[in-house]
Amino acid sequence: MGCQMSVFNRFAIVVLAVSMACFSLFSCSRKSNDSLAAIKSKGEITIATSPDFPPFEFIEKDGNITGIEIELFKRIAADIGVKVKVESVDFDAIIPSVVSGKYDLGVSGFSITEERKRNVLFCNPYTRTGIALVVRDSGKALSIKSASQLKGMKVSVQSGTTSDTFCNENGLDVNAYQSNTEAELALASGKVDVWAIDNVTGKRMVDAYNRDHSSKLRMLDDLLSYEEYAFIAAKGSDTLVNAINARLDKFRSDGTIDRLFEEFSEHSSAQ
Ligand code: ARG
Repeated sequence: MGCQMSVFNRFAIVVLAVSMACFSLFSCSRKSNDSLAAIKSKGEITIATSPDFPPFEFIEKDGNITGIEIELFKRIAADIGVKVKVESVDFDAIIPSVVSGKYDLGVSGFSITEERKRNVLFCNPYTRTGIALVVRDSGKALSIKSASQLKGMKVSVQSGTTSDTFCNENGLDVNAYQSNTEAELALASGKVDVWAIDNVTGKRMVDAYNRDHSSKLRMLDDLLSYEEYAFIAAKGSDTLVNAINARLDKFRSDGTIDRLFEEFSEHSSAQ
């Protein structure tokens, strides 16, 4: 009888321990999965951006980081009820630091790709663009119309971008730079023949360059890809992503997103 009791007791203890472990696991994972609640209790969301990408993110003369995405995100955060902290980070370091939890979100013209979807969550897209090619307005690269004609040419890209991936996958001679500004300079100074860059940003940067220099750059008409931009978050941040998507819908239907695009297209002359 005594022996039976002790077997029963041990069984009861095991059942109790297992259910306590399950309960704490369940409540912990619920807690850590509620990324929105975590951000709300902090009162602040930290976003990482590479501010060399006008009109989406760039640095104003006074050092302030602004742009369509930054201002759109500030409106989203205000609607959620939290402040925004903007951190300037090299583009190719953003995904690893969002995955590790150093930053809550990547807001940096991220194109949605299947490869990236394996590591991060994308919010819903807010605009479409594509990769374009920029050349010096003279010389051999001017006749390029498609990627197949790039063979044997040196191409500059920003490291870690879809342009970087595209050019490498197509077996091109790629020079990858930490910033878009350096990639542009490599073309202007003759280190490379072509610069591969998202078309909206490329056009903006080429216009600014041509205003300030007597030598000119030129963007070719054909796009090498079609891409959609979206903010990125760590896997498991579903409640945060859902809250952001709800605001994206709201700001799309009330015209806020269109207004930001207009505002920053006029702003271009100030860059
Ligand atoms: N859209 C491209 C990509 O996702 C380039 C983005 C570069 N962004 C930046 N802020 N420099 O790879």
